[in-house]
Amino acid sequence: MLKVGLIGCGGMGDTHNKALKALSQSHEVAVVALADCRKDFLDSAKELWPEATTYSLGFDLIDSEELDAVHICLPSYLHTEHALRAMEKGMAVFIEKPVCITEKDCKRLMEAQNRTGAKIMVGQVLRFFGEYIYLKQVTDSQKYGKLQTIEMGRKGGDVLWGFEDWFHDEKKSGSVMLDLHVHDVDFLRYLLGAPSSLSVKADRLSTGLINHVRTDYRFGDIPASAEALWDVSPDLPFEAFFKATFEQGTLEFNSRGKPTLAFRPNNGDAIHPLSKKENTGRNLESPGPYYQEDKYFIDCLIENRPIEQATLEDGVEAVRLVFDEQSLVDE
Ligand SMILES: NC(=O)c1ccc[n+]([C@@H]2O[C@H](COP(=O)([O-])OP(=O)(O)OC[C@H]3O[C@@H](n4cnc5c(N)ncnc54)[C@H](O)[C@@H]3O)[C@@H](O)[C@H]2O)c1
Repeated sequence: MLKVGLIGCGGMGDTHNKALKALSQSHEVAVVALADCRKDFLDSAKELWPEATTYSLGFDLIDSEELDAVHICLPSYLHTEHALRAMEKGMAVFIEKPVCITEKDCKRLMEAQNRTGAKIMVGQVLRFFGEYIYLKQVTDSQKYGKLQTIEMGRKGGDVLWGFEDWFHDEKKSGSVMLDLHVHDVDFLRYLLGAPSSLSVKADRLSTGLINHVRTDYRFGDIPASAEALWDVSPDLPFEAFFKATFEQGTLEFNSRGKPTLAFRPNNGDAIHPLSKKENTGRNLESPGPYYQEDKYFIDCLIENRPIEQATLEDGVEAVRLVFDEQSLVDE
């Protein structure tokens, strides 16, 4: 039985907790330890695993338990210290995105992985959404011809649910740039490699926090853009989107669309390439993306395979590109 500890039982901790529970139906895996400093969140997570040992602090869980893996679903500024401590104890580590929020921490994480050989995966979950998998496949195979241009993005309401309001503190979240925008940045790197040039526009709330970013890139001869917004109001419904123009037509995704994905050929009627089952959203059952992401991590551990998808290096390269973008934003 693969023994997993879940650290942080807030929004994403709950998502991974449910995904791991669903996975335990078919895999020899169990969450045996849970940590959250808010008792109500801890109690609610424990409902799925009544046998689990509970801790209020993530460090206590790591220090006290002998585990195969931990899931770190803490506010972003706490990822590095917990990941380092778990690696030193020989645990595999799943770290939510953004993997970390400073260059110094990128170096510390890479150094510790090289030294300990720990298996690490970063929660760059777009790589597990059916629509983005399809985009990657048709770009690589040139099914619709060569990719010409791509726009991506995600927009949502103001983020009010975080523990001690950590999202609104740039030193804790890295603003909308490291929190939301990093998803599209990672996917663009996965699709097209490192950009050859970029320019950035950002807007701030009256508090000074960046809540909107739009970056224009060139990947060789391919123009691309990515936009992310935390609206001033909490009410804006979340939407993620991309529009990829190929020689033979346009592939469009909108998470609020029904269906979410359409290919519009230059000549002819639109087609909807994925079946309803493959359109993924925040579905926690197979084949939902968070389930698939956790399944990939757990399969790699059970089958003793290297982690090749959403690696620590991928997570680090994504945040480093965002650091480059941040350096271009006016104070
Ligand atoms: N992949 C995605 O789609 C996605 C979506 C949302 C958030 N995230 C990422 O997931 C991470 C967590 O975000 P969230 O929305 O779940 O935040 P959250 O504030 O809802 O949850 C964090 C939890 O950590 C707990 N906590 C804080 N310090 C602790 C400590 N020292 N020990 C134990 N528990 C502690 C808090 O009580 C809280 O319940 C962030 O890095 C965020 O960027 C990823």
